[in-house]
Amino acid sequence: MKILIVGSGGREHALAWKLSQSSDAERIFCAPGNAGTADFTENVAISASDLETLACFAKQNRIDLTVIGPDDPLAAGIVDLFTAEKLRAFGPTKSAARVEASKIFAKELMRAQKIPTGEARMFCDSDEALRYCERLKFPVVIKADGLALGKGVIMASDAATARSAIDEMMNQACFGDAGRRIVIEEFLRGTECSVHALVNGSNYHLLESARDHKRALDGDQGPNTGGMGAFSPANNWNNQLQSQLETEIIQPLLRGLLDEGVEFRGLLYPGLMITSEGPRVLEFNCRFGDPETQALLPRLKSDLLPLLNATIDGNLSQFTIEWDTRAAVTVVLASAGYPGKYEIGKTISGLDDAAKLEDVQVFHAGTKRVDGEIKTAGGRVLAVTALGSTLQAARSRAYEAVSCIHFENCHYRRDIALGAND
Ligand code: AMP
Ligand code: GLY
Repeated sequence: MKILIVGSGGREHALAWKLSQSSDAERIFCAPGNAGTADFTENVAISASDLETLACFAKQNRIDLTVIGPDDPLAAGIVDLFTAEKLRAFGPTKSAARVEASKIFAKELMRAQKIPTGEARMFCDSDEALRYCERLKFPVVIKADGLALGKGVIMASDAATARSAIDEMMNQACFGDAGRRIVIEEFLRGTECSVHALVNGSNYHLLESARDHKRALDGDQGPNTGGMGAFSPANNWNNQLQSQLETEIIQPLLRGLLDEGVEFRGLLYPGLMITSEGPRVLEFNCRFGDPETQALLPRLKSDLLPLLNATIDGNLSQFTIEWDTRAAVTVVLASAGYPGKYEIGKTISGLDDAAKLEDVQVFHAGTKRVDGEIKTAGGRVLAVTALGSTLQAARSRAYEAVSCIHFENCHYRRDIALGAND
């Protein structure tokens, strides 16, 4: 099969790496890819948001399967476009991708299906939202309705912060149209967990659990980012939570979508808060997580390609998924300043030394090859994953690999998976 992977992050490098191990993968293209994917796939200089050009490329090159990494092209309808062009693509249609692309749509669906989630109110008028703030107990969470690169969620510990978040989102349009409507949600306490599922209509296969570290700094301080590290399996996950997830969350969600005539086909990943009263949905994502994918795929023993095909074809139930019982820890190396302003173009050294370590995979994200050197080209630069017999063994190995790699103003968290019980 000829495969096209859309995107340029660590998640896409991990997907390409795993798919390249499939005996059915004949040729792999990444659009636009990064310096890591260039080593073993063919990078194509087409942006993940240029849907028409991607479809033309897929047609001209007789691509058998396109796998879409990021949320934006899914929300913009890339799968609808590919399907109309008789091209096979892994990911939900535009209407199914609304579970992630509109927090209001997701909340309304959860409410209708009685799916456990935080209490919330939706607003399209800023004055009304501001008035509501006057009678709130803090902290609360203010969320832009649409996609905002993982930055559209603000924890407001007091009324002043809430007012300025509402003003920036709704009046100053700091997230463009994504923040014209907002959700004000109760602040949930607990620990987070990401569970991925391959879904076709009402059929699904859960993948192993993972935990992300969203905040920029050690000790969960600093602003929210796309994710600074992950580990799998999650130490706060168990069989009881899994059966609650299936019966109280996944099954009612898929039923609710089907009731509206929407068949979800692709990867669904609820972000959960495990509270003292059970799991609560923070959000639904309609694609693989980043950096969770970099921790999950090295643990996946089964061939990924037939699983993606079975998700599209609706014969998932014929497959079992095999996992490496070892744990995986992924540490993200970022450019200092991320998720705010940062510099790029710094030379990266030590990648080969890190990759030589046993059970280590170095996934590239914001990297670019310039004159034979690998340079930084984004906020999140690399995701370094190690496997180990315990989480702590995987963690030591991951940090050993990280210590081999250098670039100016490199920032990473020192506490990924720290204190997670084995
Ligand atoms: P979301 O995009 O909705 O998942 O939000 C991003 C991150 O914000 C989550 O992973 C949590 O760390 C945090 N968050 C979102 N909603 C809440 C909530 N209701 N209570 C506490 N933290 C939240
Ligand atoms: N790791 C968070 C996300 O992919 O949305």
